[in-house]
This record gives sequence, C-alpha cells and structure tokens, in this order.
Amino acid sequence: GAAGLVVGAAGGAGISAALPGEDTAGAGAGGAPALTTVGATSVMFHGKHQAGITTPLQSRGHLVAFDLAPGAGRKEAAALLRRWSVTAKALMSGKAPAEDTGVALDAGPSSLTVTFGFGRTFFDRTGLTSRRPAGLDPLPAFSSDALDPRRSEGDLWVQIGADDALVAFHALRAVQKDAGDAARVRWQMNGFNRSAGATAKPMTARNLMGQVDGTGNPKPTDPDFDRRIFVPAGGGGAPEWMAGGSYAVVRRIRMLLDDWEKLPLDRQEQVIGRRKSDGAPLTGGTETTELDLNKLGPDGKLVIPDNAHSRISAPEQNGGAAMLRRPFSFHDGIGPDGTPDAGLLFVCWQADPLRGFVPVQRKLDRGDALSTFIRHEASGLFAVPGGPAEGEYVGQRLLE
Ligand code: HEM
Repeated sequence: GAAGLVVGAAGGAGISAALPGEDTAGAGAGGAPALTTVGATSVMFHGKHQAGITTPLQSRGHLVAFDLAPGAGRKEAAALLRRWSVTAKALMSGKAPAEDTGVALDAGPSSLTVTFGFGRTFFDRTGLTSRRPAGLDPLPAFSSDALDPRRSEGDLWVQIGADDALVAFHALRAVQKDAGDAARVRWQMNGFNRSAGATAKPMTARNLMGQVDGTGNPKPTDPDFDRRIFVPAGGGGAPEWMAGGSYAVVRRIRMLLDDWEKLPLDRQEQVIGRRKSDGAPLTGGTETTELDLNKLGPDGKLVIPDNAHSRISAPEQNGGAAMLRRPFSFHDGIGPDGTPDAGLLFVCWQADPLRGFVPVQRKLDRGDALSTFIRHEASGLFAVPGGPAEGEYVGQRLLE
C-alpha cells in the first residue's frame, strides 16, 4: 500500500501531488512506486507569496546571486524578471523551456520552486534607490563574522529547490541562461536535505552535526505566522510592492565538524539543550515539548545551560523575535586546511530582519555554546517580493 509515502508533509498550501487523471490518495497504490509521487508533486508559481518559503524542505537546493552587467539598468532588469518568471512557471509545472538542455526530460516537476529576491545594491543600479525598503539596511557586523565579500550579497538572488538533483540543476542552468547579457553570476552555493521517503514517516530534518533541526520553527497554522513571516499589505511603512513578500537572510555557516565530532554526546547535547536522538529538550518529554528553562538538576545547575543554543535563540528570550528557518546543508569537499568544507546554508525568512534574524544573532554572538563549532563565512540579505498574480511577473509592481 501507500504506507511510508512522504510527500509535502507540512504547510501544503499550493502543492499538488496528483497526475492528471490520478487521485492523490491512490498514488503508490496499484503498484506505482512512491518515487512517482515524489516526481509528480508540483508547487504553484502564482499566489499571494512566492513558492519556496513555506514549501516543505526539498532534498536539493541551489542558491545563486547575480549582479547586473555594466550598463544594464531598470529596463534590462524588468525584462530579465519577465524571462525568469516565464521559465520558472513552466519548469515548476513540469514543462520544458524552449531550446531545452534535456537534463530533466524524464522527471516530473519534483516539487521544484524558484524564488527571486532583490539585494540592496539592485536599487542603486536600477535608479530605484528611493524605493529601497528599510528592511534592506545592511545587517550589523557581528564579532564572530568571518565573511567573504565575494560570496556575500548581490543585486539579485535566486533560490532553487527540488526533490531531484537533475531537476534542480536543470532549473539552475535555465535561470543562468536567461540571465544572458543582463546579469552575471556573483556566487553560487549548492545544498541538500534528506530525501523524501528516506524515513518511515515525515520527520524534522537533521543537519550535518546530527541534530534534529527545525523543531522550534513557527508553523503556517500559528495565528501570528503571517504577521511574523510576511510583509503586510498597506501598512507598517512597508512599500506596497513588498506586500505578501518576505526578507531572506542567507548565511553560509561552516561547521567545524572535526572538533564537533570529538565532543562526547552529553557535551554535544548541552551545546543545544536538546537530546540528539530525538530532539527532545534535556528537561524531558518529546521533540515538541516546551523547554523548561528554569529547571535545575540534582547539582543545582540549570539543566538547559545558560549558553545553550536553543535557550538563547528561543523567541521568549528575544522579545518574541521569530523567523522561519529553511536551510540546506552543504558539502564542498575538503578545504585547504584538511577539514571538511561543510555546514549549513542557513536561510531564514521574516517580515522584518530587525525583528527576526538580527536580535537573535546578536544574542547568539555574545555567548552561544555552538559558536566554538561554527563559522559564518558569507552573508546575504534579500527583499523577496510577494507572489505574482496570474499574468504578472515577479517584481512587476516594483519594476514597471
Ligand atoms: C534552534 C542548530 C544557527 C536560530 C536550533 C536547534 C538546533 C539548531 C539543533 C534546536 C531545534 C530547533 O528548534 O530547530 C543550529 C545550527 C546552526 C544554527 C547547527 C549553525 C550551523 C542559527 C542561527 C540562528 C538560529 C544563525 C539565527 C540567528 C535558531 C532559532 C531556533 C534554533 C530561532 C529555535 C528556537 C526556539 O524556537 O525555541 N538551532 N542553529 N540558529 N536556532 Fe539554530
């Protein structure tokens, strides 16, 4: 039967897993393997919000930043966003673009999402400085930053996610081809998550340190989810073209895995304040039990230490600051120093970076037990406009 089928486990708005003439519940029955459903799942291009924000984590991802070419301005940028939108819409529904490379020919859309954002520098290049939102003010410097400017920021940002590596690569090449003479790749990062179907039931992902990662995320069903993650329409001083949009903070965070893996399990668990096996708080219960931040152990010390990552980052400790973390892991081989060049492509989404990422990172920067084992190597902040209405291209309300 269809037991063990894991498709679109969470926040399924705008997601369809049915082939024409096939009912979703029946996929996997009748002898069709689960993989068919993974491939057949498609995500809507049009909508209030762009795809790829509340879409369940895909198993493959590419993050790419582009700079507009010298001489390219607002007109070229608008034409580029129009081309990109046509391509993204076709690919997300499983159609091949014109003069296709054929890389994804036999696969379905595989939950492909292509998400577009604007960096701070875009607005100067296009003569739109007066319309740059305050949300794109540069992030403050943090004491633990070791940022490489060549792998940071950029005029334009594209996030590609899919449950198949060839589908993701296919979309990446199409997006790069569309850039044509208008924009050049500034940096590219490649990531992955657990494959759909790898676990017997839908489960929170693990990162490359082995921790269950994503438990504390706000859920689309929370009453304040929209307010925290998406820019409201008509209000709050936010520009109208950002209505339904969100701000993405991107950090390439290297994990110092050789050091981390030498740490005994109990010490690893104190760094986070949660059990490694199932992600439950050290104060007991299951993965979804609240942390008991005041509980003392038999030795009179806090069970969840003062510097535990999940204590410091908890919204209650940060005036309610909340973000939606939607990362990919990365592994780019062994670095010149002989250690793995691996870690987290941390992507978090919020209605206002000053009420999401910034206050939390400020506190983490001052004394997170995890900081000994990680290094922030690149950073980007992007304004991701709302989803395009039928007949519209992404960013049209800014660019036309
Ligand atoms: C929670 C790992 C970086 C913000 C967690 C948890 C883990 C974790 C294992 C507990 C499970 C969960 O609630 O998801 C990591 C690793 C990082 C990293 C390995 C770097 C490689 C960051 C950064 C931020 C951040 C840079 C933001 C500035 C949070 C938040 C929570 C959290 C907000 C949820 C707290 C709650 O709701 O109680 N992280 N994290 N993390 N982390 Fe991180």
